[in-house]
Amino acid sequence: TVYPDEQTASVRVARRIADLILAKQKKGEQAVLGLATGATPVGVYAELVRLHREEGLSFRNVITFNLDEYYPMQPDAAQSYVTFMNENLFDHVDIPRENVHIPDGTLERDEIAAYCLNYEHMIEELNGLDLQILGIGRTGHIGFNEPGSAPNSGTRLVTLDDLTRRDASRDFGGKENVPTKAITMGIGTIFKAREIILMAWSRKKAPIIKKAVEGEISSEVPATYLQLSDNVEFVLDEDAASEL
Ligand code: GLP
Repeated sequence: TVYPDEQTASVRVARRIADLILAKQKKGEQAVLGLATGATPVGVYAELVRLHREEGLSFRNVITFNLDEYYPMQPDAAQSYVTFMNENLFDHVDIPRENVHIPDGTLERDEIAAYCLNYEHMIEELNGLDLQILGIGRTGHIGFNEPGSAPNSGTRLVTLDDLTRRDASRDFGGKENVPTKAITMGIGTIFKAREIILMAWSRKKAPIIKKAVEGEISSEVPATYLQLSDNVEFVLDEDAASEL
């Protein structure tokens, strides 16, 4: 779906999330959301905060699982995805803190495998993700599933691509300060979501969107795997869609 601009598209995605939360509330159920970081979803979170403040949308029945976190990373660091989520969403809505899950960047190396398995189990025990939102990196990564990621991959420790670290260098004051690793949900984890929305804005994303939507399905561009699913929507602005 192509919208004229990022703002219009973000409001539309936020409305979809709000409708899901409200539908679950009516049934006395919890909404289980997979959330993303990066610049792309900022407008969606801003609109959700507005819906909470101005229209009384409650997040009390919402459980969230974030896609990824840098490793190593302290949660209170300025660049952590914990800080990002708090600043953009969680500090401004009524979500119970125990409902929030973000991969832990402070684990010892030998704790990571068991932690990642448990992350998957927690999602499964809640009967899976109702909705996963995604951005896309210029390497074609979703979450931090870089080129080479297997379609059935689960939550795990990964090595970041050089281009991904270069793109993150501004946040860290130089590429040398960007962690070389991250913990990310896998492609398989993402695929189990009942609905997936991938968002992209601006001309900078147009070449990778073309590859993701029209290119050959390949681990070289992990987002191409989304072509195999029929519950995926790409939500784009005109610039990101300009090479399609
Ligand atoms: C990071 C995140 C991804 C995100 C990507 C794109 O690598 N781990 O989940 O999709 O950046 O970032 P942006 O939205 O800032 O372009």
